[in-house]
Amino acid sequence: MASLGSSRISGRSSAVEFPRIRRSSFIKRSRIGFRVFASEAQPEPDLSITVNGLHMPNPFVIGSGPPGTNYTVMKRAFDEGWGAVIAKTVSLDAAKVVNVTPRYARLRAGANGSAKGQIIGWENIELISDRPLETMLKEFKQLKEEYPDRILIASIMEEYDKAAWEELIERVEETGVDAFEINFSCPHGMPERKMGAAVGQDCVLLEEVCGWINAKATIPVWAKMTPNITDISEPARVALTSGCEGIAAINTIMSVMGINLDTLRPEPCVEGYSTPGGYSSKAVHPIALGKVMRIAQMMKSEFGDKDYSLSGIGGVESGGDAVEFILLGANTVQVCTGVMMHGYGVVKKLCDEMKDFMKKHSFSSIEDFRGASLPYFTTHTDLVQRQQEAIRQRKAIKQGLQSDKDWTGDGFVKETESMVSN
Ligand SMILES: Cc1cc2nc3c(=O)[nH]c(=O)nc-3n(C[C@H](O)[C@H](O)[C@H](O)COP(=O)(O)O)c2cc1C
Repeated sequence: MASLGSSRISGRSSAVEFPRIRRSSFIKRSRIGFRVFASEAQPEPDLSITVNGLHMPNPFVIGSGPPGTNYTVMKRAFDEGWGAVIAKTVSLDAAKVVNVTPRYARLRAGANGSAKGQIIGWENIELISDRPLETMLKEFKQLKEEYPDRILIASIMEEYDKAAWEELIERVEETGVDAFEINFSCPHGMPERKMGAAVGQDCVLLEEVCGWINAKATIPVWAKMTPNITDISEPARVALTSGCEGIAAINTIMSVMGINLDTLRPEPCVEGYSTPGGYSSKAVHPIALGKVMRIAQMMKSEFGDKDYSLSGIGGVESGGDAVEFILLGANTVQVCTGVMMHGYGVVKKLCDEMKDFMKKHSFSSIEDFRGASLPYFTTHTDLVQRQQEAIRQRKAIKQGLQSDKDWTGDGFVKETESMVSN
């Protein structure tokens, strides 16, 4: 979108705003004065969110990739209850997109990649959508007609060409999609055409392209970041100052899945050869949390009071994985490989597990805990100081009280123990 004035999202509720922990009261007084837990009366936690003016029944979003490749699978995602769907990335000329097979390779836990081990890592060398743009546009339109209240986000990518970006934005917007996610992050394929991560890794290019996009788009724009960069907060900052409403992170991590020790050929092996691909699934989750934490810190300190949004992506398979992104400040959480492994129905498990977490802590809405863990990150120097102070205090207690005035009510027993000799 063009500018970030309040008129663009007027009347819509805000997105990023960091920790305001509000616990719903879960303890009430009975008539005879005892305090009782009111768990039975506790209302069901509310998973619904509004982000950049987009209302979703829950924060779980289908991440761009195979789970959003066509009408049938996107319809299935809406029917199963996903909060929003981000379609597979489209470009103007699908004829230039030529995929190979096999294009996936998996990493399993356990000895020597045992076939029975749990899948923890997934590499793909898949390109963006190879379906004609006209077909994808027809399907976006049909989905929006059939599901007018659900959020459909188009993922788009183009060459370093202003006119091409403008044409793509105009044609996709006409279908009625609710927002754009810009794929500045695909690590493999078409860097020679200055597409994907080739733009996301170059802040000068990124600023220029974001400027074109936001001058043209009239719906919210999320910039999807690549983790294959030293400091991910730099391109995120550029995207926001260039008019994007939100940041999504992370796309896949550049990887080589492995080498076949019999054939000496790398995987996935296409006619005896391979190319580095993008790594996803459980193994990338801690890396994704680290990147999202960096972006969230930057957004909080530099853009804190504005309506920007953050979408966490990487290795989500459980409600707890998603909660972690939200505790760092994410508004929404995307799932791609998790859907490829467990199917669309996994959203029910994700919602149930997130609700269980919320009930345990008596949180009634997502905003109650969003960003709650972010303040607990500090520098290593500060950790050292905190630890030294804690040790000093523990020693002081062990040494006993200096004076009778130091006795306290709460620590009375410990204080007594600190002065006995046996
Ligand atoms: C097979 C495959 C294809 C993907 N295609 C796209 C794509 O077209 N556009 C995009 O922005 N991200 C694409 N991604 C990246 C995912 O959207 C996501 O950022 C990444 O896989 C990490 O999340 P995950 O661990 O939940 O899969 C793809 C991922 C996979 C595994």
